[in-house]
Amino acid sequence: MTPVPSHTLNDGRPIPSIGLGTAPMDDEQSETAVAEALRLGYRLIDTGAAYGNETGVGRGIARSGVPRAEVSVVTKLPGRHHGYEETFASFEESRRRLGVEYIDLYLIHWPLPRLDKYVDSWKAMTRLRKEGRVRSIGVSNFLPRHLERLVDETGVVPAVNQIEGHPQFPQHELRAVHTKFGIQTMCYSPLGRGTGLLDAPDIVAVARAHGVTPAQVVLRWHVQLGAVPLPRASSPRHQLHNLAVFEFTLTDEELARIDSALDHRRIGFDPETHEEF
Ligand SMILES: NC(=O)c1ccc[n+]([C@@H]2O[C@H](COP(=O)([O-])OP(=O)(O)OC[C@H]3O[C@@H](n4cnc5c(N)ncnc54)[C@H](OP(=O)(O)O)[C@@H]3O)[C@@H](O)[C@H]2O)c1
Repeated sequence: MTPVPSHTLNDGRPIPSIGLGTAPMDDEQSETAVAEALRLGYRLIDTGAAYGNETGVGRGIARSGVPRAEVSVVTKLPGRHHGYEETFASFEESRRRLGVEYIDLYLIHWPLPRLDKYVDSWKAMTRLRKEGRVRSIGVSNFLPRHLERLVDETGVVPAVNQIEGHPQFPQHELRAVHTKFGIQTMCYSPLGRGTGLLDAPDIVAVARAHGVTPAQVVLRWHVQLGAVPLPRASSPRHQLHNLAVFEFTLTDEELARIDSALDHRRIGFDPETHEEF
């Protein structure tokens, strides 16, 4: 299979162009899924303190036998730990649960604008990066005004914004803001989280034309838009299919057809109001 290519983040560090999602797997499920995925060729694993599976993810990395230096681990600061000092403590808990010396990419999971502490957490994260405890720092579920505020108040642009993104919620405007700032788009729920996206007639038709599966068409759409999708897959069969998206190319017409015929709607929470603690 074609090796997974990498993107270069705005801090100069590489990131694989596809990764494995792990929520809502528990410790046991994530240990098995992560170990399998790494053996199959995945090199980017997404977790979060809020998922309650960092221990399992860490065990999966160790069990895979893949050298730690080859694996990019993403984890996230939960809402209950927003604040400058709280961020350091939360980070150390995540690092201990994962059983790693450093984290490759540390994200603020949600902005929680009502709490209004994400800038304090961001300042702590810039220090974690300076100290080498994390390699790259970024955010998740941030809207343009949250991104602008971080940059205005700290001068540090997030390397990544992990957002809900799939053909039913393509987020073209937010992606344009990312491009303006040099932020890498990373997409969660990239396959529409089992909401019927993979049965959409236009996606099925494009898949037939290429002799691939609808999931592969959707993941290829992500790759060609320049995003890093994080499909969750518990079975090695789906995991393997989801990696085999670097051997065919969609035309511009197909790319447009994949998201234009669908009714666009969010399936997850609204970052303006969601309060994840
Ligand atoms: N930052 C955030 O706020 C946030 C929010 C939500 C999610 N996330 C992250 O994003 C990851 C992915 O999002 P998600 O779990 O919501 O949704 P998703 O990846 O879009 O969908 C997962 C579902 O797709 C199925 N699937 C995977 N590969 C398939 C294939 N080739 N063919 C058919 N079905 C397939 C999986 O089934 P099987 O398990 O049976 O393969 C699973 O039921 C999460 O696991 C998490 O790491 C982040």
